[in-house]
Amino acid sequence: MRVVHSAAELAAALAGRGRVGFVPTMGNLHAGHLSLLELARRHADFSVASIFVNPLQFGAGEDFERYPRTLDADCAQLADAACDLVFAPAVSELYPVPQTFLVEPPAALANDLCGAFRPGHFAGVATVVLKLFNLVRPDIAVFGKKDYQQLAVIRGLTRQFNLPIEIVGGETARAADGLALSSRNQYLGADERPRAAQLARELAAIARTIAGGERDYPRLAHDAARRLKMAGWQVDYVAVRAAETLAEPGADDRELVTLAAARLGATRLIDNLEIRLA
Ligand code: PAF
Repeated sequence: MRVVHSAAELAAALAGRGRVGFVPTMGNLHAGHLSLLELARRHADFSVASIFVNPLQFGAGEDFERYPRTLDADCAQLADAACDLVFAPAVSELYPVPQTFLVEPPAALANDLCGAFRPGHFAGVATVVLKLFNLVRPDIAVFGKKDYQQLAVIRGLTRQFNLPIEIVGGETARAADGLALSSRNQYLGADERPRAAQLARELAAIARTIAGGERDYPRLAHDAARRLKMAGWQVDYVAVRAAETLAEPGADDRELVTLAAARLGATRLIDNLEIRLA
């Protein structure tokens, strides 16, 4: 496995590689990222992972400075997982000139759910992903369903710019108690970690109740949010949406997703669960 830091080295390393599968990351890798790489490897001849903590997608007061940077450990994991190439650029390499948003994803998607609480976040994600796509030129790119709204934004990006890239969603990897794996889980205190799995349990309860025939989605979301608040969470949102558009579901929508974002102490966690109605 090679590790390159510049766009020029990347271009040279990619020459003549056949079908390229790409997994963009911000590093601090865990089993969830490695499962995305495995998916990319299955779809491609040559696998590329990027490691870049993107300043453009962090708002003021968010965790850009303290986001864990663990390049050596990440590269060791990627080498073990048979990744072919790692692109780990410095900020000045990816943003050689002062960068504002290149892309404004549709407001109805980007300003809703997480976007309502993190203004500019999805424009920052879309901008860096467009730049990375431009450099890596992948045939397929894999994004985790854990960041469900991000996946929808990236699918929209490929449509908006007519990018010939197949976007594949990878399943969320979970700890034994159901907590979705996330680099931010390590911010949780020892007393918070066992409580954190409640988020996944609330989503599973919503999914079960819907599978049992309940269709009052706002009430289900409201009840779950209330239980989380009673347990000491600060809830940004709990919602049930149409899986493809993330709009409020209509009566005919069969593919749904329930999503939540909430803070336990200082740690903001997100999670979601897909629901297919029979
Ligand atoms: O999901 C992430 O880690 C990031 O948002 C991404 C897609 C690598 C863009 O910085």
